[in-house]
Amino acid sequence: MAEASLWYKDAVFYELYVRAFCDSNGDGHGDLRGVSRRLDYLAELGVDCIWLLPTYPSPLVDDGYDISGHYGIHPDYGTLDDFKELVRAAHERGLRVITDLVLNHTSDQHPWFQASRRRQEPYTDYYVWSDSDHRYREARIIFIDTQPSNWTWDSLRGQYYWHRFYGEQPDLNYDNPAVQDEMLRVMRFWLDLGLDGFRADAVPYLYESEGTNCENLPETHAYLKRVRAVIAEEYPQAILLAEANQWPEDVRPYFGGNPRDPSVPGDEFHMSFHFPVMPRLFMALGREDREPIVEILRRTPPLPFNSQWCTFLRNHDELTLEMVTEEERHWMWNYYAREPRMRLNLGIRRRLAPLVDGDRCRLELLYSLLFTLIGSPTIYYGDEIGMGDNIWLPDRNGVRTPMQWDAGHNAGFSDAPPDRLYSPLIADSDFGYERVNVAAQRADPYSLWHTIANMVRMRKTHRALGWGACEILPVTNSAVLAIVRTHGAEVVLAVHNLSSQPQPTLLDLRPWHGLRIEALFAQREFPGSLGDKPCALTLQPYEYFWLQMVPT
Ligand code: BGC
Repeated sequence: MAEASLWYKDAVFYELYVRAFCDSNGDGHGDLRGVSRRLDYLAELGVDCIWLLPTYPSPLVDDGYDISGHYGIHPDYGTLDDFKELVRAAHERGLRVITDLVLNHTSDQHPWFQASRRRQEPYTDYYVWSDSDHRYREARIIFIDTQPSNWTWDSLRGQYYWHRFYGEQPDLNYDNPAVQDEMLRVMRFWLDLGLDGFRADAVPYLYESEGTNCENLPETHAYLKRVRAVIAEEYPQAILLAEANQWPEDVRPYFGGNPRDPSVPGDEFHMSFHFPVMPRLFMALGREDREPIVEILRRTPPLPFNSQWCTFLRNHDELTLEMVTEEERHWMWNYYAREPRMRLNLGIRRRLAPLVDGDRCRLELLYSLLFTLIGSPTIYYGDEIGMGDNIWLPDRNGVRTPMQWDAGHNAGFSDAPPDRLYSPLIADSDFGYERVNVAAQRADPYSLWHTIANMVRMRKTHRALGWGACEILPVTNSAVLAIVRTHGAEVVLAVHNLSSQPQPTLLDLRPWHGLRIEALFAQREFPGSLGDKPCALTLQPYEYFWLQMVPT
C-alpha cells in the first residue's frame, strides 16, 4: 500500500498535557473527556494535529513517561472508550491525534519488569541486567540533578538494571527479539484505534554497546526502520515523529533514505524535532544577532522529500540546553534563568512568556521565527495565550499547570474545590488566570491568541511556509534576519529585527523586480510593486513582517 499524503509537511501541531487541559468530572485532574469538550477551541485556533502526552497507566514518577501498562488508560484520564471517542471527535473536526510511544523504557511497576526481577519467562531478559555497574561507562546521565548513575541495584534479582532516565524507569532490552515484537504489538494496538501516529520518545537510547556513548547506534536505526516498515505496510496514514535531542547531523539518519539524494524517500521517521534550532532562537533574540540561527541552519542537512522537521519554542520539559556549547549554556542561564530555581538538569524550567518578561513584541517575534523557518511548528498548550509558570513546583511541574480558560472558578479548568486541583493555578499579578486567559483573549481582536491564530491560518494558505526551500537573504545589519521561503512560484519573505533598538536595513529585493508585494503580516505600508533598487527602511524594535511576492 502506498503511504498517504504528506499532510504533516504543512501542519501545525499542538502539544497537549491532558491533566492540565480540562477536567470533565470535577476531580481536579484534566481528562480525555475534558479534551473532547475543548476540541472546538483547537479547531478554531486552526491547528492540524494534537499531540497528547502519555495517558497510559503509570505510577507517575515521570508524569506518565513511566508506563506500567501499555494497553490501557490511567484512571485519572478516563477509559479506553474515552480515548476512542476523543480520536473520533477530533477526526470529525478535521483534527489528527498522535500520542507518545515510549519505546526505551517502562515503569519499574510494569508487570514485565516485576516478572523480570523474578527471572520469570518470557520476561527474564526483557530488561538490561548486569552483575556490574561498570558497563557502558561512556553513556552520559540525562537527569543529572537526580540520578547518580545509569545503573540501579535490584536486591530481588541480585543484579543491576540499566536506565537512561529515573531509576524507576528501567530500559527495555532491544537485543531481545521478544521485546522488539512486543513493542510492535503495542504500536498496532493504538493505531488500530484510529490514532494518526506517535511522537516516539527518547529514541536514540534503545540499544547499548560497550565502547560507545550508547546513542544513535546502528542497531537502533535498524529497529526503527522495522517500525516504519510496519507503519508503511499496515497504517500508511500514520506518522512517526522522533524525539532525538541530538545535533542535526546525528538526527539526519533518523529520517533514513539517502543522505546524498533527497529524492530518495525517507524510510525511518516522517518527522523529527529540530532541537538545536530552539535555544538559538532565544540566543539570537537575547544577543540581538541572527548568527546563532544562521549557523545552525547551515549545519542542517537537507531531508528526503517526504520528511519534515518539527520545530517548537517550548514544551513540557525544561528548555533543554544540551545542544549548545558550554559557553552558550552559561550565557543562556545567565540571561534567561538568573534565579537558580529556574534551572533544571541542563536546561531552564520556564514557560515561553515569562522567558521574555511577558513582552508581547518579543513573544510575537519568536513566534514569527517559528512560523517562517524550516519545519512544522508545535504550539505548547497555554503558550498561545502567553501563560506563566511556577518555578517553585518540583521537577518540570511548573510548566504543566492548569490551562487558563477564563477568569472564573479555577480558571474554567475544573469544578473541583480549589484545594483538590492536581496543581496550583498560576495566580501571580503578571500571568495569573484572571489576567491571562482564553476568554479574554478571544474577545480582544488584538490579543496574542488572535495573532497566533492568524499565523496558523497563514501557514495553511501559503504552502511555501511548510514545503518551501528556506534561504537567508543577505543583509548587512546582523540584527536583522530575513527569511525567504520559496515553493514553485510562491515566494514569502519574512523580515525580523532581533534588536530592542531601531535598525536601518537595506533589503535587496531585486531578484523579484517587477513582482507585486502583498503584505501578509505588517504594521507598515509597502509600495505595490518592487522596483529595481534595494529597499532602504528602518525597522522598529522587534518589528517583523511577512510579504508575499506575487507575479503581476
Ligand atoms: C520526555 C520527558 C521524559 C523522558 C523520559 C522525554 O524526552 O519528553 O518528559 O521525562 O523522555 O521518558
